[in-house]
Amino acid sequence: MPLTGEAIDIRAATAADDDAIAALNRAAFGGEDEVGIVERLRGDDLVAVELVAVRAGAIVGHILLSHLPTTMDGRPVNALALAPMAVLPGQQKRGIGGRLIEAALDEGRRLGYAAVIVLGHPDYYPRFGFSAALASKLASPFAGEAFMALELVPGALAGQAGSVTYPAAFGL
Ligand SMILES: CC(C)(COP(=O)(O)OP(=O)(O)OC[C@H]1O[C@@H](n2cnc3c(N)ncnc32)[C@H](O)[C@@H]1OP(=O)(O)O)[C@@H](O)C(=O)NCCC(=O)NCCS
Repeated sequence: MPLTGEAIDIRAATAADDDAIAALNRAAFGGEDEVGIVERLRGDDLVAVELVAVRAGAIVGHILLSHLPTTMDGRPVNALALAPMAVLPGQQKRGIGGRLIEAALDEGRRLGYAAVIVLGHPDYYPRFGFSAALASKLASPFAGEAFMALELVPGALAGQAGSVTYPAAFGL
């Protein structure tokens, strides 16, 4: 059977996955920054959605959505930050990342969240509906085409001007 035909299971992360998730982020990002962000987001109880992709019993992908204080025209928006996300080098470009994003967005929607914000590859996230134009109305430490937003609830980010406040866990 070709590798691309092997079954990938997407499921919620558990505490038993912590070490494997840290190893995955270390391998995918080549450092400790994202490992630390994940640990601090968990420690600060900010995790809303955390999923893993499993192939043949091994964790090959991870995605985390966390609470992100957001306002638009003075009203609070129930938003999430998508970060970090990683697929094991050697397993990339097989659609695993895409499946993780779709599953995480579905879960965020199911939990009642209204929007998701990401700082990421501008050639990748728009295919899932993320828009730099939508995010450009949000004051943040970031600007430009890599800073993108997606509405889980249509109109959630409608308005003139808003802001996002990244929690200390991100170390910005
Ligand atoms: C980004 C990442 C999670 C994507 O996972 P994946 O399983 O390879 O994703 P998919 O198979 O669903 O999609 C692959 C697409 O991602 C794109 N992609 C991956 N890395 C990219 C990058 N640095 N810049 C732009 N596009 C990128 C590929 O070009 C490919 O696009 P294509 O379908 O047009 O060829 C994975 O490449 C990864 O872990 N990278 C290292 C860590 C990282 O950068 N995380 C994201 C932080 S925002």
